[in-house]
Amino acid sequence: MVVGLEFMAVWFFSDIDKKLPLCENSKYRVRGSSSLNKALTLNRAKKQESMESMGLISINAVKPGMVLAQDVRDRNGRLLIRQGNELSDEHLRILRIWGVVEADVEGADREELEGASREGLAPEILERAKVLVLERFQHNDSALPAVAELIRFCTLRKARELQDQPAKAASRPEPARETASPALAVKQLKPVDPLRLLTEDTTLGSLPIVFQKLLSVLNDSRSSATDVAEVISNDTDLSAKLLRIVNSAFYGIRSKIDTISRAVTIIGSNQLLSLAMGLSIINFFKGIPSELVDMASFWRHSVSCGIAARLIASFHRTPNTERFFVTGLLHDIGRLFIFKELPDYAKAILVAARARQSLLTPIESEILGFTHQKLGGALLKHWKFPVSLEKNVRYHHEPAKAVNRNEAAIILLADVMAHALEHGSSGECYVPRLDAATWDCLGLPLAFLGQTAVQVDYQLDEILKFFMTE
Ligand SMILES: [Fe+2]
Ligand SMILES: [Fe+2]
Repeated sequence: MVVGLEFMAVWFFSDIDKKLPLCENSKYRVRGSSSLNKALTLNRAKKQESMESMGLISINAVKPGMVLAQDVRDRNGRLLIRQGNELSDEHLRILRIWGVVEADVEGADREELEGASREGLAPEILERAKVLVLERFQHNDSALPAVAELIRFCTLRKARELQDQPAKAASRPEPARETASPALAVKQLKPVDPLRLLTEDTTLGSLPIVFQKLLSVLNDSRSSATDVAEVISNDTDLSAKLLRIVNSAFYGIRSKIDTISRAVTIIGSNQLLSLAMGLSIINFFKGIPSELVDMASFWRHSVSCGIAARLIASFHRTPNTERFFVTGLLHDIGRLFIFKELPDYAKAILVAARARQSLLTPIESEILGFTHQKLGGALLKHWKFPVSLEKNVRYHHEPAKAVNRNEAAIILLADVMAHALEHGSSGECYVPRLDAATWDCLGLPLAFLGQTAVQVDYQLDEILKFFMTE
């Protein structure tokens, strides 16, 4: 599947390359360029070097009209865009979607360009942005370099938003509108047994049929791409949605794909299976009262986490990165289950967390006796999801307890990024805590955070519209 995607990227960019004129008189000339894919071929030291040396500038600071001075290649060395080509707005948009994260521009180094991007931001707007961002990060240690980098990036981003889209920037997640006393709400609730909740819950039996079949395919090592195509093709609604996605700009395939079996061939069975499961599980959780959670916001958060998790896993060349997309998509499913099955408890948790300016997880433990991550893990185990997926969900707020700490750490960092970027919310108002051990075990360069954030921003809107349509 990944190979298929790479092939498409090469094919797509090679095609673009042919159309671009050579522009020798451009104001900016790119001395060199790199992409996340290219960086993947380097060892860790070289990755660090590629991102922090030679005046490489973030794709955020690259503007139309700049000219590539070196070929852009994928991690296998195949040509994406040839040296000398001038970049257009459309190229920049697609480069972001595909993960090209920085370029090196002659005559305009990183500081100059990124400084220029701050020009026009009034000091009071920057200050206001910083206050808002720090409020969201209040449960994090800003002395941790990774947290400081996220705060820096988010402050600039927020300042631009405050200046350009003040109405959007002012909007914040409103997890609970209740004003009742949290103490009063807690007193009226009885303890909950999470195992009984799972085994006695009748709605579990009504999991969408197609979802159950997809799970069977996922869990059966003898399943083939043909089985995936067959299960999906039998659900006309799901098939139609998937075909819209694979024909979207997210995949950039020029020839129209009109059957699921061809989609499996082109983008891969794992990828299609992941998307199908994500689409069908969204339907299962419809009908949760909006006073508890805005479902559009919940899935925006979840899809953002999935995209970020896949990008982080890709950086490490972790096998089968699609499972990280699904894990990110489902990482807070325990919270959704609480909203659906225990609305009174959910309300009490939200109100108490709001009143105390607390993260939700400790309040969940206090009121329910368990957390959303524990319930989410138990739910995925009950549904017979792969063990790795179940464990990564269970430990996404405490990777140190996971057998595979790195995989759980990927989900935690992805969750932190989704919150930092204000990509929706699963009810949480604050950025979850990123600890030094989690960051260190991932071995990422600091520059990765901003570059990946830009990619998530661009990929999210491309794919989310397909998740949220009827
Ligand atoms: Fe969570
Ligand atoms: Fe989350």
